[in-house]
Amino acid sequence: MADLSSPVTSKAGAATLGALPNHVAIIMDGNGRYGQRLGKIRLFGHRQGAKAVSRTVEAAARLGIKHLTLFAFSSENWKRPKDEVDGLMELFAQVLQSERERLHQNGIKVRFIGDLTRFSPQLNQAIAECEELTQNNSHMILNIALNYGGRWDIAQATRALAREVAQGKLSADAIDEAQLKAHLAVSEDVDLLIRTGGEHRISNFLLYQCAYSEFYVTDTLWPDFGRADLEAALAYFASRERRFGMTSAQVQGKAR
Ligand code: FPP
Repeated sequence: MADLSSPVTSKAGAATLGALPNHVAIIMDGNGRYGQRLGKIRLFGHRQGAKAVSRTVEAAARLGIKHLTLFAFSSENWKRPKDEVDGLMELFAQVLQSERERLHQNGIKVRFIGDLTRFSPQLNQAIAECEELTQNNSHMILNIALNYGGRWDIAQATRALAREVAQGKLSADAIDEAQLKAHLAVSEDVDLLIRTGGEHRISNFLLYQCAYSEFYVTDTLWPDFGRADLEAALAYFASRERRFGMTSAQVQGKAR
């Protein structure tokens, strides 16, 4: 990853993109197909996908995105063939080790969300080291979802709230949407959800946080994704009128 302190240089730089989403979440789909289309194994696609992660994190940070959440491994991905799962675990550990210093130098705070208990002690150590190294950074927050599921997230937040009630720290009647949100793995609402690989599904990603997000689906396979694709998604976002249940006239200030 390059130094992010240099100015945005592309034609469609931050100034021309319009309203920026605060939180962008990405379902990085299409790695397997990318590998297979080239006559290679699926893991080849995942390795190329790791390069797209690096490009996209850099582009998002340069463009001024404050929160970026990437779906790297779902609770359901354990069902894949063992050699693919093992290869992915190895790739995660390698990428964390090779990228963490640059992420840190560029002011990015890295957090891992999901049930990490199922991962090896080695991967958990690489995760802990990366989180610790970058914990005080604030240029951009990068959440990497590993063994994550939106239903798991809601269940774990509910358990945490139930514990607080059982311990007498919280009254059951005080549980509202804000309380629930505060206990989710990521509390910020997703403004823009991007999915590569052409499928129109949420796939158990940030279910609660995507209540009002704009969806951008592209046929581009994740390993081909880069800054131009991110800018296209941001331009789409800027063109949307977000109504949050109101009428268009209300949003535009023309009616009460
Ligand atoms: C989905 O594509 C992709 C994954 C399950 C893995 C994502 C992993 C990476 C991008 C590698 C590195 C990531 C980090 C954060 C270090 P798919 O395999 O389901 O594609 P398909 O639909 O073509 O089969």
